[in-house]
Amino acid sequence: MKVLLTGSTGYIGRRLKYMILQDKSIELRLFVRNKKALSSNISKDIDVFEGDTFDREKLKLALKDIDVAYYLIHSLNKKNYKDLDKTSAQNFIDIAKECGVKRVIYLGGLGVKNENTSEHLLSRIETGEVLSSCNEVQTIWIRAGVIIGSGSTSFEIIRNLTEKLPIMTTPKWVDTKAQPISVDDVLSYLYESLSIAIKENITVDIGSEELSYKEMMIKTANVLGLKRFIIPVPFLSIGLSSYWLNIFTPVPFIVAKALIEGLKSEVTIQNDNAKKYYPHINPLSYEDSVKKAISEIKSNQVVSRWSDSWGVTWDKDHQHEISDAIFVDRKLENLNEITSKKVFKTFMSIGGENGWFAYSFLWKLRGMIDKMIGGVGLHRGRRMEKELRIGDSLDFWQVVDIKENERLLLLAQMKLPGTAWLEFKIEGDKFIQSAYFYPKGVLGRLYWYCLVPAHYFVFRSMIKNIMKKAKYSN
Ligand SMILES: NC(=O)c1ccc[n+]([C@@H]2O[C@H](COP(=O)([O-])OP(=O)(O)OC[C@H]3O[C@@H](n4cnc5c(N)ncnc54)[C@H](OP(=O)(O)O)[C@@H]3O)[C@@H](O)[C@H]2O)c1
Repeated sequence: MKVLLTGSTGYIGRRLKYMILQDKSIELRLFVRNKKALSSNISKDIDVFEGDTFDREKLKLALKDIDVAYYLIHSLNKKNYKDLDKTSAQNFIDIAKECGVKRVIYLGGLGVKNENTSEHLLSRIETGEVLSSCNEVQTIWIRAGVIIGSGSTSFEIIRNLTEKLPIMTTPKWVDTKAQPISVDDVLSYLYESLSIAIKENITVDIGSEELSYKEMMIKTANVLGLKRFIIPVPFLSIGLSSYWLNIFTPVPFIVAKALIEGLKSEVTIQNDNAKKYYPHINPLSYEDSVKKAISEIKSNQVVSRWSDSWGVTWDKDHQHEISDAIFVDRKLENLNEITSKKVFKTFMSIGGENGWFAYSFLWKLRGMIDKMIGGVGLHRGRRMEKELRIGDSLDFWQVVDIKENERLLLLAQMKLPGTAWLEFKIEGDKFIQSAYFYPKGVLGRLYWYCLVPAHYFVFRSMIKNIMKKAKYSN
């Protein structure tokens, strides 16, 4: 069976890819916007096609000779996502039909259309409708609500709130019912959808037991061994609640707002197709899903996180943009007897629990300011303590380039009056650390000048400490 997987750099797609790769009867092909965002250990036997769903010619190449295609794509981090998502789905199904694809498998959101349906969910429903609108291609539309897994948005919000706040005053929507599901069960439904013997289009609603968000937080606290008090109050507006989530969890304001809007309507199962067509999948209970997610986090086995695909701007040529930067703060050190391998390993360990090598309190302060103004802050940390890959979010940065034993390039995702990068590079016998800034207007220039004194101390100590740590590392 020839299978095309889209979204394979995303939260679900990355995990599904590993699952499908176990099945040797499947010839897997990936469709990605940037090949570099794939893990370097991806098998050499997999065909990787670069392109995006707005490029019909690239889609034709990717969907040629394919039997089943997964559609795990959304444009939610773009302003006009509703229109983009419709066009993307239409292109996909048109070309799938042209290429003779037999089945498209789509994962959308759980919930129904009514006056309370959030824009976010409406767009997911519309995508499903477009994909199911073609008679020649069968569509299996799986609908999941809250997905519980290490690094999933909903779980990270629930976990962070539960861990950080012994007493929570919450909006009345915490009583809204949902049917959460473990990410591993979602993957099982997606994988089994390749082979279920059915010809017509189906919608499959998936989930475990019915719980309110309040019950989910209490159960999460139980698993974490914590006692928590939740007091719903009637006057917390969407804006205020979103700001609250933004401050106490790793999600930025706009993601928090989209989620809170979704909390107004119930996200429960509307059909029994999961039991009918996938009788041997028995979804894990909520508590077991939480235990599994926490054990993955504790053992540093997080395969994907919501933030890795959030706000990525792959269409940007960072190399070109860096050379256009107006301000550069560059520091240089001689490697002397320290190997480039040791220096590379040391700067690749930056961020998260490992810290930023100098003036941690200033980095934390910058993270706090970013949170206050609705940004991502420092809470996202690192996906894994020792591994970094292109696309990973790293505190308020995103990894946009890695060259083994040579280079790490980070793009700033904090709120800034301009665009900033931080580069660590080994060239010959030199270690070069550069901060680049492309300011937006006068404010951007003022911002840079105000930070010159702080940069002087922070960046100078940073490079020295990286060298020192590299020297004494194994
Ligand atoms: N995660 C959840 O909690 C959850 C819950 C319920 C339903 N779902 C559904 O599951 C599906 C996948 O979600 P996810 O959380 O895995 O998303 P995600 O982590 O945000 O990943 C989105 C993926 O789509 C790719 N992509 C976006 N626009 C594209 C385009 N125009 N052409 C090609 N690729 C494009 C991204 O590639 P880049 O890496 O290049 O950006 C990325 O691989 C969505 O339909 C979502 O509604 C997810």
